[in-house]
Order: sequence, then C-alpha cells, then structure tokens
Amino acid sequence: MDTYQQCIIPSCGRTHDVSEVLTGCICGNLLDVKYRSRPDKGLKEVFYERRSSRGNIFDESGVWGFRELINFVPGIDIEDYDSYSRVLVTYDGDEGKTKPFHLTKVAQYIGIKPENFWLQFEGNNPTGSFKDNGMATAFTHAKMLGVKRVACASTGNTGASMAAYAANELFMEGVVFVGEGKIAVGKLAQILAYGAKILEIKGDFDDAMARIKEAANKRNIYLVNSLNPFRLEGQKTIMYRVLDYFDWEVPDWIVFPGGNLGNTAAFGKAFTELKEWGWIKKVPRIAVVNAAGADTLYTLYNDWKLKWNMGNVDDEAIEEYYSYLDEKDVKAKTKATAIQILKPVNLKKALRTLELLDGVVEEVSDHEILDAMAVVGKNGFGCEPASSASVAGIKKLVEKGIVEEDETTVGILTGHILKDPSSIIEYHSNLTNRFANPPRKVENDLRKILAAIETD
Ligand code: F0G
Repeated sequence: MDTYQQCIIPSCGRTHDVSEVLTGCICGNLLDVKYRSRPDKGLKEVFYERRSSRGNIFDESGVWGFRELINFVPGIDIEDYDSYSRVLVTYDGDEGKTKPFHLTKVAQYIGIKPENFWLQFEGNNPTGSFKDNGMATAFTHAKMLGVKRVACASTGNTGASMAAYAANELFMEGVVFVGEGKIAVGKLAQILAYGAKILEIKGDFDDAMARIKEAANKRNIYLVNSLNPFRLEGQKTIMYRVLDYFDWEVPDWIVFPGGNLGNTAAFGKAFTELKEWGWIKKVPRIAVVNAAGADTLYTLYNDWKLKWNMGNVDDEAIEEYYSYLDEKDVKAKTKATAIQILKPVNLKKALRTLELLDGVVEEVSDHEILDAMAVVGKNGFGCEPASSASVAGIKKLVEKGIVEEDETTVGILTGHILKDPSSIIEYHSNLTNRFANPPRKVENDLRKILAAIETD
C-alpha cells in the first residue's frame, strides 16, 4: 500500500496499516503517517488555482486543497470528485481558509521591519482555532474506519472543534474530557452547544489526557488528540498555506505557541517531507514558545539539554523530570489556558522537529503574553492569550538578537479573540496594564457624557 503508519523511533521502525486505530506503536512511542509516493511539483500550480475555486468544497478547503500531499485514504481516486467526496470530511470547505498578513502595530511593538513580518490567523477557522485543520483529516480517518464515537482530552479548542465535526457527521458521538475549571468560557459554550458530552475531571489537562488514553484503550474509542498521526496530517497544511502564499519560497522563521506540541510535530513533518520530495531547497528555523508556567519543552530542551539525537532520546531523563513534577505536585499554571500543559504528548516528535529545523524554544510570562494579546487586538484582529505567546516570543527573540530585524518571520495566531473573552476584559479593566482600555462608567447625563468623550 502507498500509505502506512510507522514508529518515529528509527531503532524500532515498526510499520502498521492505515486501517489500524492506534494511540501509539506497541513499543510505546508515537506514530507517523508515511507516504511511499513523491507528489509532483507541478501540483503547486493546481493548489494556486484552487485558492480561487468555486463550487467544489474540497478545492475551497484550505486543508483538502492540498489533498495530494495528505492522501492517506487507500483506494480513492484523488482526482475524481465522486470517489474522494465519499470519504474526505470537510466543514463545507471552510477549514483552513487562512493566509499570512502584515500587522504593522504588532511589528512595531516587536521591533521588526513590518514588511518582513507576517501573522497567520488560524482563529479564522470555522470553530475559531487551528484545530479544524486537523479535525478534517482525523475525522476522515475515523469515517474511513466506520467509527461511531470520537473523544479527546482538551484545554478547550480541540474539544470545540471535535464537537463541531462530530455534529456534522451524522451518527458520530463526541466525548470531551477537560480539567474542571480549566477551560475558557467561549470554548466550553461551543462544546455544550455542539452537543458533545463533556466530562469535567477533577484535575487538569494532564490528568484528563492520562485518563482518556486509558479509557480509549479499554473501550476502543477513537481519539482525536494530536497523538493521532492522522490529525497532524491536516495541521501540516497550516505550513502549506504559508508556502503557497510565498510562492513556495521558505521564510527564515516560523514562530508559534507550544502546548501539547502537535503543531511542532506537524510543521516539522511538513517541511521535512517537502524537502525530501524536492519541493523546497531549505527548511525554515522554528521557534516554539512556552508559557513560563507550562514550560516543559523549554526546560527539557534548554536546561536539561534533551535532544532528539537521531531518535535516541534519553527516555530516563523524561521519566526523571515527570517524576519530579509528580513528587513536588507541580501543576501547569498560566492565563494562556490553552497551553496549560506540563506533559505534552508530542514531546519526542517536537524534539525531532527542533533537530531537523534547527529550532529554538523560548518562554514568556503571562504579563508578556497579555500585553502582546492587547497589541494584536489594537490591530483590529485580536486573539486568545495562548496565541499571542507567538508575538511575545518573537519580541523576546528579536531582543536577544536570535531573530534578526530583516529576517522574514511568520507567527501563527492559533485561536480567536472570542474564545477567552474573560481574560481580555480582565486585562483591559485593570489600569496597571500597559495597554488597558477600561470601560468608563458615566452617569445618565448628557453634559457628563460629552465631557467623558473628550477625556482620555
Ligand atoms: N494555541 C491554542 C489556541 C491552542 O488551543 C493550543 C492547544 C495551542 C496553541 C498549542 O498547540 O498543542 O499543538 O502545541 N490546545 C489543545 C486543546 C491542547 O485541547 O485545545 P499544540
């Protein structure tokens, strides 16, 4: 067969059929989706044409517009609408309609040349976060296997996206595990509204993730967390759209927040494959940005010097670090609740990406995250706190001289402003915050109202 699953650790290298539902290799490590074929470079033109396509929702989709590069479904003809439309799952062609754009005020805040700086707003996806890219492909795999129940642990966005895709697929039931009180209000509202079953586990995301893996193994539930390699295939298209926009010229830097490290894994795979296929000559450097209160990758990579090491990862160091977290009862704590994670499931794939793409890991405080979020808002866009970790991270890397002023840099904004409105209102209501824009209370009196308009 043209496509298969393979253990990421070269010394294991076991392969599995695409029809197998697995949360990992039997050796305990993560799996990749692998392709034997080498897509033709002439497809670049086809992808460009599909950008302005009308009438074929799979061409319109920012995920399936690149379907030849993520075609893991055996037995379908990827050029024949009748054949592929029976299996590929799309939110009416609406996922992944994003591209990089300039935000001048953000560039000025960071201290980078505006013409060399772009942000790609994945909050513009149908459920308001980048997750829809991956749900399109994970649900396609689930549908291919006739799955009836899907589940995930979530800090909110995965759950919201999964719930929406499950609702769109008739007879598909969705179950979401969240840490009690650890989910922003917009995301909770979405999951409830889309009709998924939500289980609030006493604990945090890391607890919810551990429990759902156990539940999935006991009940044969299909997991759509980013340990699912088919979901990451969809998230690769976030990078395809960056490249499509730049006519397949590779920017110097890609910067994004790190939580469960699915994007880190997916972006690394996207660029490595394209280089192998001869589509691009170089790969970009990447910077993964942790919140300081949830900084496992930062600590292990920078302080503990944990590296991919061509697949020979020091498992004992990871175990030692996790035991230390357990013994000291250390919990993730950040206002960027989307990335409030201490045991990221894609840790090893992230290390692989960092090695292959000469990556760096930065960490930023909640204060830096929230100021950056306010500046994104001032551009008329806005995002949730986890997303602005990208902006805060680039700022820090520019200050340190790691990202240089005239290097081309693309930051990813992962989630919509309305996902976590409470944190925005809290920020703007507190006058000690640098960019606070509080609501002004005025008496119901025209003279006082007019005076208030003129007052700063
Ligand atoms: N940004 C947002 C808005 C997110 O929701 C997440 C992850 C991330 C960044 C981190 O991405 O996991 O690929 O490193 N949210 C997950 C969830 C964990 O459950 O919604 P990652």
